[in-house]
Amino acid sequence: MATESTDGPEGYEAATDLESLQEEGRAVTTVGGHSVALFHHEGEVYGVDNRCPHMGFPLSKGTVEDGLLTCHWHHARFELSCGDTFDIWADDVRTFPTAVRDGTVYVDPDPETDVAPEVHWRNRLVDGMAENLSLVLAKSAIHLDGLGEGFATPLETAVDFGTKYRADGWGRGLTTLGAMANLYDQVDHDEKRRAMFVGVREVADNCAGEPPRFDQYALDNEDLGKDRLKSWFRETCEVRDSDGAERCLRAATATLPPEDLVEILVAAATDHLYMNGSHTIDFVNKAFETLDHVGWERAPDVLASTVDTITDGSRAEETSAWRQPVDVAELCFDADDDIPELSAAGDGKAWDRPDGFVDRLLGDDPHDIDEALRDAIREGATTEQLAHAVAVAALRRVAQFATSNEFGDWNTVHHTVSFANAVERLAGRTDADDLYRAC
Ligand code: FES
Repeated sequence: MATESTDGPEGYEAATDLESLQEEGRAVTTVGGHSVALFHHEGEVYGVDNRCPHMGFPLSKGTVEDGLLTCHWHHARFELSCGDTFDIWADDVRTFPTAVRDGTVYVDPDPETDVAPEVHWRNRLVDGMAENLSLVLAKSAIHLDGLGEGFATPLETAVDFGTKYRADGWGRGLTTLGAMANLYDQVDHDEKRRAMFVGVREVADNCAGEPPRFDQYALDNEDLGKDRLKSWFRETCEVRDSDGAERCLRAATATLPPEDLVEILVAAATDHLYMNGSHTIDFVNKAFETLDHVGWERAPDVLASTVDTITDGSRAEETSAWRQPVDVAELCFDADDDIPELSAAGDGKAWDRPDGFVDRLLGDDPHDIDEALRDAIREGATTEQLAHAVAVAALRRVAQFATSNEFGDWNTVHHTVSFANAVERLAGRTDADDLYRAC
């Protein structure tokens, strides 16, 4: 235990006598409430926080050699004089200035730090994402929350990181992050921290080992209207031209309101059936939901990151499962052709979901399901009403799923829920008829 002294530099506390420190090579003292490990090495006295910043092992039990302190638990190495680590997963260790007067070692118990704590933990969050270090991400999220930053900093950092450092763009990581942001306000304190951690960790994990993404520029012409940009975006997506599609979409984000951006993306994401086994529409929806949290000024980068999931997406009509024994794909395309007429017929009518409608959607006959959906539109069902009914059907399928079934069957069921949920949420953002065909 250090004692107050008037003989050392101002503010320093006496810690130990130099002679015994020279003999032992190390000592532990307490100054200002901190446990400090002191080392005598190469004729100098050094003080560092005795808790290893990695997982708390006492550094006084470590090895000092050639100016390096090595922790004995996981072998993190620290430059002894300033505490910088060689091992990013461990973090730098805090150092305490020392002075020797008349054979006594003094320690500054409260040295000024160059970096404010919130800056330190923001930087560590970025380190954790870059190196995919779960422990660093967890510590950063907890400290930032303790500093009053809540989910704002982790969310913005992870969105910026995830949209930049993954060549394929928006993926499962950012989708999970968006889901966690949705949950954040609905869970209690510890669960909030868990939500933050899970979100940022999934983004880091999804980006690990991936090449970065290089942005395209928006088309310069700011007079292009929604219809022209929508048409160009769909055409470029159709031929899997991701660069051209991104330029169109960035031009749209620069000039069009959110509801038009939703319409454009939903149109392209439903030009083919059940793209990427539901993930495309789910990712697009989560990108919009995430913008609600981080602010629409990030729309250009966030939405641009969804382009590849459309241009590179698998198309269900190319699979035999959608063609045999019933050509469901053709049923869908025929219905799509008829949507303008059905929608016009429903204009001005108010639709109440008939009894048994959801049961009909869960039936075994694709033709009857097709007819039920057509009837609803013809009778005035809005896109939101129809999307809600489809989502209820998808959820009921989960409730009725027998766990004795194969995992592959479960995948089919839960992906349908992802798709239906995304369509319902997107239908709340635009009145465009494109949402009918998503149903
Ligand atoms: S506790 Fe020191 S390296 Fe892990």
